[in-house]
Amino acid sequence: MSDTSTPVVIHRADYAPPAFLIDSVALEFDLVPTRTIVRNTMRMRRNPGAVRAPRLELLGEQLELVSVAVNGAPHAAARAHEHGLTLDDVPDAFELTIESACAPAENTTLSGLYVSSGNFFTQCEAEGFRRITYFLDRPDVMTTYTVTLRADKTAYPVLLSNGNLIEEGDLPDGRHFAKWEDPFKKPSYLFALVAGQLVALEERIKSASGKEKLLQVWVEPHDLGKTRHAMESLIHSIRWDEERFGLELDLDRFMIVAVSDFNMGAMENKGLNVFNTKYVLANPETATDTDFANIEAVVGHEYFHNWTGNRVTCRDWFQLSLKEGLTVFRDQEFSADMAGGASNEAARAVKRIEDVRVLRQMQFAEDSGPMAHPVRPESYVEINNFYTMTVYEKGAEVVRMYQTLFGRDGFRRGMDLYFKRHDGQAVTCDDFRVALADANGRDLAQFEGWYSQAGTPRVSVWTNYDATALRYTVTLKQGYGDVAPAARETQTGPLLIPFAIGLIGRDGADMPLRLDGESAAAGTTRVLEFTGTEQTFTFVDVREEPLPSLLRNFSAPVVVEYDYTAGELAFLLAHDSDPFNRWEAGQRLATRELLALAARAAQDAPLSLDDSVVAAFARVLNDETLSPAFRELALMLPSEAYLAEQMAESNPAAVHRARQFVRKRLAAALRDDWLAIHERHQTPGAYAPTPEAAGHRGLKNLALAYLAELDDPAEAVKLASAQYAEANNMTDRAAALSALLAASTAQETPAAESALADFYRRFEKEPLVIDKWFALQATQRGTAARPVIEVVRNLMTHPAFNLKNPNRARSLIFSFCSANPAQFHAEDGSGYAFWAEQVIALDALNPQVAARLARALELWRRYTPVLREKMRAALEQVAAQAKSRDVREIVEKALV
Ligand code: ARG
Ligand code: ZN
Repeated sequence: MSDTSTPVVIHRADYAPPAFLIDSVALEFDLVPTRTIVRNTMRMRRNPGAVRAPRLELLGEQLELVSVAVNGAPHAAARAHEHGLTLDDVPDAFELTIESACAPAENTTLSGLYVSSGNFFTQCEAEGFRRITYFLDRPDVMTTYTVTLRADKTAYPVLLSNGNLIEEGDLPDGRHFAKWEDPFKKPSYLFALVAGQLVALEERIKSASGKEKLLQVWVEPHDLGKTRHAMESLIHSIRWDEERFGLELDLDRFMIVAVSDFNMGAMENKGLNVFNTKYVLANPETATDTDFANIEAVVGHEYFHNWTGNRVTCRDWFQLSLKEGLTVFRDQEFSADMAGGASNEAARAVKRIEDVRVLRQMQFAEDSGPMAHPVRPESYVEINNFYTMTVYEKGAEVVRMYQTLFGRDGFRRGMDLYFKRHDGQAVTCDDFRVALADANGRDLAQFEGWYSQAGTPRVSVWTNYDATALRYTVTLKQGYGDVAPAARETQTGPLLIPFAIGLIGRDGADMPLRLDGESAAAGTTRVLEFTGTEQTFTFVDVREEPLPSLLRNFSAPVVVEYDYTAGELAFLLAHDSDPFNRWEAGQRLATRELLALAARAAQDAPLSLDDSVVAAFARVLNDETLSPAFRELALMLPSEAYLAEQMAESNPAAVHRARQFVRKRLAAALRDDWLAIHERHQTPGAYAPTPEAAGHRGLKNLALAYLAELDDPAEAVKLASAQYAEANNMTDRAAALSALLAASTAQETPAAESALADFYRRFEKEPLVIDKWFALQATQRGTAARPVIEVVRNLMTHPAFNLKNPNRARSLIFSFCSANPAQFHAEDGSGYAFWAEQVIALDALNPQVAARLARALELWRRYTPVLREKMRAALEQVAAQAKSRDVREIVEKALV
């Protein structure tokens, strides 16, 4: 953390197998917050598959060495240093016993062993285990663990670790112990322990082969009533993996534990998943529909890791996407199946649209900046900086493309072969690709490009219709846009792009498709395998000039360039049989209008929007054949961040003005529709977080948000106040509060202030809801008289604010810096000064969280000159003061 020398860059090409192996490890913990003693006994031997090393190098950080013994005798040739422990003169096979101490109560990094709300927790991925004991802390060293926990029985009645509980009992002086054994070999990053005052919701189920399983969701006693949804999500996950992939839970017991101080979302430790409370706790009063859906997704994600990550793990951290991309793909499919089943295409499309929205907004941006990296990175300074949208979300798209190419059955065959070959091993992305290829009798050498090339591919499309020959040609050309030079270097040749396409006739119906050379037409969507730099596909028997529906269901993570007219987009929005592309047509139409308006706003020119655009959106809004959830997504404009990124020079203020202009226009033009929708989509009766009910609430609350944009917001204030007061669930209450805040920008209203105060009083004892209270204020619009930076600075002094708690820091600081672009990028640079202060303050406490915040300025070069210069100054300030290699890697790459 205090390393201020030149950063050490780790390269994928330098991988070498470990010089020693560990056959078993026994850990004994004497858990005391200020000084925990760890006794670590390892059976070690030289790795026959590695070059003979002169000495044994164990990794360790922030540890105090107490003693070292080899085969039971004190070992003099041991030297502890900043990065670990070096042992000379070790035999070829031996038992090594190391005693060391660490200080969990002082550990604000939340990596390794730490204390949260008086309880002990661990987080070892990626390199936290070395902060617990000296070890070969790398994922290709797998071994079996026996763990003994000893602690005061009153303060820490519950003692948990991986695997099965094999013994427990009392000790002198009011202490007790528990001994856990994990029968499966695992890398150190999957180790976990939890100790403290916790209670569990329990269920017993039988797995597919009839074995009894104990499921537990552990939380602090006052949260027990919020665990039902997580438990149900876990049971659904177990069933889904059995059915879809034939994968069964391999342990007798599976535990989820919630912790309120956590750097990320959750962690898949073997048999003992540790979760951010945000992804466990829910009841209708405290959690929104989005929270309920996120819990289901994250519970699924971590559970699915048991096979994709734990049983088969990564050889080194460059292969992170092997487990993360694959597991995100699996959780996306799980959520889609839970929402609509395998055959409900409309419900699946909603999930698909939501996922693509995130990908395009965040991953495409990452790909265009200084942190651009391939799905399988070539180098890193701090691996925690590479838990990215590229590794996770683009990685999931890469996995999805196998399924698009081979179908569900072919994908399943590939997964089966992958497990048959690699169960119990630490492997690479190549191993996965080759298993998929072999199982389907294909050579997928070209597909490697998706793992090795950084940047977002662009596919340009030209079409031509020959009315006499009834032939329609589609020419595709692939390449990349502007990227950082380091990313450019990785771009070595054309990719294999599965390009799904349909052709739509004048009646709005799909045409049957027959490619030149085929004997008959088959299907109405075809996946073209686009492998060249430029390639032409010819459809025959095309009775009239069609409108192409390109990249259906977003069949590859690329940007498609095609010159649709506004009229054609409106037609696709009304008729495309592919629900994803229907939504996409609306987004293209809106993006085009919004960018044109933003360009005018930047010149202070007057703004106007053609009636035909409003009419196209009105048609979708009132199309009762479409689900409410779909209509909500279709009427949601592209985000300000996404739009700013599409400009030659990002101008957040101009984008904000343009987008607000369109929102107000849609609000006014469709006022009666919004009112009717707000009334019609009420969900009376008990709250249920089903996708259907959530869809109604989503559309209803979108209507409320639009009504709050009216120049006279009185009506919206009335509706929102009533909705706030009567809500029986957090979705409606938070939406009402948000509408009140929005309405008060046009006209200061006491309703907003009093609802805010009420919200705080009502939920004072619910940290996750207070996070929402902070976030709503940090993302509000603000006025010239009261810019949001003032609100935020003021909230930083609120007694409930706590920089050490990542959820709280994210709710206020990150929300402002990353989710309120128009206010954050204020021309006076006040947002950037605040950002620099907070990155530096966080850096001293928690480098991982600080580094995430540091990324808020990484696209600085793409902004208008005034903003750019102020951003550079803020970055330079952080570069001069940051101590952690986490933050330094981010700001130094940004400034290159
Ligand atoms: N493997 C976890 C997940 O995605 C993420 C943990 C990452 N933690 C970290 N500190 N980098 O499910
Ligand atoms: Zn994961």
